[in-house]
Amino acid sequence: MSKIKQDVLNALEKESYISGGQIAKDLNISRTSVWKAIESLRKNGYEIKAVTNKGYQLVQTPNKIDGTLIESIVKKHQFVDHVFYLETVDSTQTYAMQKLRELDDTFIVVASEQQKGRGRFNRSWVSPKQSGLYMSIVFKPQLPLTEIGKFNYHISLAIQRAVSRVTNVEARIKWPNDIYVGEKKLCGFLTEIISESNLIDSIICGIGINLFDSEHLKDVQTAVSLEGAGESEINIEDFFNELIRSLKEAYVDFKNNRFNEILDEWIEHANIFERELTINSYNESYRAKALSIDENGFLDVLDSDGTIRKVISADIEL
Ligand code: BTN
Repeated sequence: MSKIKQDVLNALEKESYISGGQIAKDLNISRTSVWKAIESLRKNGYEIKAVTNKGYQLVQTPNKIDGTLIESIVKKHQFVDHVFYLETVDSTQTYAMQKLRELDDTFIVVASEQQKGRGRFNRSWVSPKQSGLYMSIVFKPQLPLTEIGKFNYHISLAIQRAVSRVTNVEARIKWPNDIYVGEKKLCGFLTEIISESNLIDSIICGIGINLFDSEHLKDVQTAVSLEGAGESEINIEDFFNELIRSLKEAYVDFKNNRFNEILDEWIEHANIFERELTINSYNESYRAKALSIDENGFLDVLDSDGTIRKVISADIEL
């Protein structure tokens, strides 16, 4: 989106009414440029009324994942340095990895559709157009590598908080990277890192959230969308806004080593306690019960032989 269009949108968002002349003056552009930007926003689905003697009023934003909306929300929260929005991409995660070669800043990549979305353990993440949020965020924490075990707790809690703050859906965290509603998966994320001399240089966090019931999702018994799980309509702007706010809050907590302060809330919203679990780690599978989380983010479990084991990376079956 052009800078002018973005600035005009920001001006409309700030005031209930604002005249074309005022926008032109504030942005130091011509009235014709303001008018063109407004026409273009209308074409993108923004409902903008022109009221005599009052000016323009932004009545409604489109309930669609689009670049204008994504950019304006990310910028409003000053979440990262750059925003990339793509209608279609193979995978936002792969795209972010490539961009990292030319950029040394933080950034987010959001796509309306992925052709080759990927999940953990080489699984695929089916990503139909306008059906979910597909995004990869590149953070540059410059923290010791030993801190990475805590990152997923902050991110999973941020997603859980966003869901519970803007919807009536009861989302629970499945260790380490999933959000569930009941026994069905609503969201998954993967965390990849680039490190140098025991310092985390970049974290590439790829998040997929099912928003609406796509044809694909209807056939999958183990997954659910936010729309399917809740009782009210999903407003993309409200949800994305809260998600970015929560992710920013979570990242600040991670950077400031506030792991101990979020752990009780994380445990309260997790779905792994007080039940039998199957832990699939890279070389074995065993039954166990989750006991607690230690100060470094390891999951302590009690296996069926009565041995307490520490788990840092695994796939859990509920
Ligand atoms: C999982 O549950 O296994 C993790 C799924 C992660 C999917 C997201 S969608 C955006 C980003 N791009 C990808 O290709 N994958 C992640």
